[in-house]
Amino acid sequence: MILSTMSTKSLEEVAITVKGENFHHLWFQLYIHRDRSLTRTLVQRAEAAGFNALCLTVDVPVLGRRERDRQNNFTLPFELELANLSGRKIPETVGESGVFAYVAQQFDPGLTWKDIDWLRSQTKLPLVIKGILRPDDAVRAVEHGVQGVIVSNHGGRQLDGAIATIDALSDVVAAVGDRLDVLVDSGFRRGTDVLKALALGAKAVLVGRPVLWGLSVAGETGVRQVLEILRDELSIAMALSGCRTIPEIDASLIKQV
Ligand SMILES: Cc1cc2nc3c(=O)[nH]c(=O)nc-3n(C[C@H](O)[C@H](O)[C@H](O)COP(=O)(O)O)c2cc1C
Repeated sequence: MILSTMSTKSLEEVAITVKGENFHHLWFQLYIHRDRSLTRTLVQRAEAAGFNALCLTVDVPVLGRRERDRQNNFTLPFELELANLSGRKIPETVGESGVFAYVAQQFDPGLTWKDIDWLRSQTKLPLVIKGILRPDDAVRAVEHGVQGVIVSNHGGRQLDGAIATIDALSDVVAAVGDRLDVLVDSGFRRGTDVLKALALGAKAVLVGRPVLWGLSVAGETGVRQVLEILRDELSIAMALSGCRTIPEIDASLIKQV
């Protein structure tokens, strides 16, 4: 699980709650704020709370134009707070998404690879960069001491018309080889989608909205069911493709055109 910087529960609360739940991977997702001392504190808090890795999202220099959020003047319901961000609030806006305004005010839109070096110097935790679509950027990530990349277009919520991640994946994997782990997300809905991504060299597949759909239908049980459905579908797809184990899933399953 990767917990967002924007979470409405604090990272400490989440870490305490999942302890003992056999979590192998609890990562913290970082947005670099203009306020570097806030950013540094988030990194230190994540380390202290026992998170296993930092996941820096790099595809939100500005928020994409989300028309429904603009029309609805989207903001957080008053009973929810940005629990990691010491009193910062999603502003109330008219004709604009409050999140758009927050990102414009607070996030650093000018990140470069120097900022990756800065972050690298702040922590010993493994660093994963989320929002990579180009093989040359993945190679730069290797050069800057990053342990993993997530091939992601943010669920198609940022740049309209961006390449599908399943189409971007093989070139990224080919460019970095085994020098770092390549994960992927955005639009993975079925076990067969997961099988294809693993066949193309992804180390893991992540899901966003399916978890939220499960949550809204049936709370924790719904989330569990969504994940179980995906796992069952993957194992059936593996059996029907002649794969007994994950390492047996390889590119020979895919007809490249
Ligand atoms: C409601 C919502 C909130 C999100 N918030 C964040 C976030 O705070 N940080 C981040 O890196 N990605 C965020 N994302 C993007 C997801 O991490 C992920 O890349 C995307 O949802 C994957 O695509 P999928 O939803 O099609 O599985 C968010 C996505 C949704 C739907």
